[in-house]
Amino acid sequence: MLNQVSLNQVSVTVNGTPVVVSSGATVAVAMVLAGQVCRTSVSGEPRGPLCGIGICFECRVVVDGNPHVRGCQVLCRQGMEVNTEK
Ligand code: FES
Repeated sequence: MLNQVSLNQVSVTVNGTPVVVSSGATVAVAMVLAGQVCRTSVSGEPRGPLCGIGICFECRVVVDGNPHVRGCQVLCRQGMEVNTEK
């Protein structure tokens, strides 16, 4: 079943939509699986994970109300709320 969470999975919310990911997946992975952009550039272009190792800062998101979190550096936790950074 699609929305059922097993012991090896966690459920997070991405821009209000529940997403189930494997334990150990990063927030950047959840954003990609959800088909959401992490942020928009100053000119309004969509941005997403690029380097995956914490250098480019293109994966910045809001995690549980905390802005400027690099999604590729944070593991998903059960119940985490992730939002696109404005
Ligand atoms: S993808 Fe480059 S810092 Fe996260």
